[in-house]
Amino acid sequence: MSLQITPSDQACGAEVRGVDLTKPLDDETIAEIRAAWLKHFVIAFPDQPMSDDDLERFTQYFGPFGNDPFFGSIPGHDHIAAIKRNANETAPIFAENWHTDWSFQEHPPAGTCLFSITIPPMGGDTLFANQHMALDDMPDELRNRLEGKMAIHSARNGYSKDGMYGENDKGRSMDIRSSDDAMATQLHPVIRDHPETGRPGLFGTAGYIIGFDGLDEAEGEDLLGELYRWQTRPEFQYRHSWEPDMLLMWDNRAVLHMATGGYQGHDRLLHRTTIGARPN
Ligand code: SIN
Repeated sequence: MSLQITPSDQACGAEVRGVDLTKPLDDETIAEIRAAWLKHFVIAFPDQPMSDDDLERFTQYFGPFGNDPFFGSIPGHDHIAAIKRNANETAPIFAENWHTDWSFQEHPPAGTCLFSITIPPMGGDTLFANQHMALDDMPDELRNRLEGKMAIHSARNGYSKDGMYGENDKGRSMDIRSSDDAMATQLHPVIRDHPETGRPGLFGTAGYIIGFDGLDEAEGEDLLGELYRWQTRPEFQYRHSWEPDMLLMWDNRAVLHMATGGYQGHDRLLHRTTIGARPN
């Protein structure tokens, strides 16, 4: 099978047609999709009326399921989480901040699949920032300060009892479960080679990154702020606009992403799986 792949005119992203994701895929097609994912980092498959079983089957072509902490799963599908917001909801938009999914884990997920079910008539785009391009174009002065540094990642700002989605987060329809486990920390190099392509890039950002190993709090905050301002610049971004029955698959090792609002008064529902890290 030969896929039709149309790159976006932005910093990453492509649309993929010529495949039916409601049916099992052959090895050649899976290899083509993997190659497109590694090249474009964010690939969108429009017009795919997939069931939850289809979503799980597709995810497992690319790795084992990732481990999703702090989310409940949908009934009958332990590896699918509902990214959900009701029309009348007033809690802050979920994930409206730059991040790499679960970067605080020892082995963070390679990718994420997000399938759209109910899409509002306006707003609700997802933004991505290409972290290979951000590193390639980074001024030497900032790069020299980051080279060799280990970033401290933690879920505490989001998912601890005191976090954004903790005990004071009221009236949210999404099944988020805060926990003291979110206080744990994990080190990852801030500049690292992509585990599959070997291309150097930046990994993670402020939010899940809470500091740098060996820097005091003030120095760490300063460097983290500079890193954040650089890696999220508009020229590194791709803005994804949704339509119903669209599958999006992104590479967490290559991009940051964030949700956006602008759809108050409308429902939004997507089903999400994570693709676990490939064993070394
Ligand atoms: C996510 O970060 O998983 C959610 C993205 C979105 O809702 O657009």
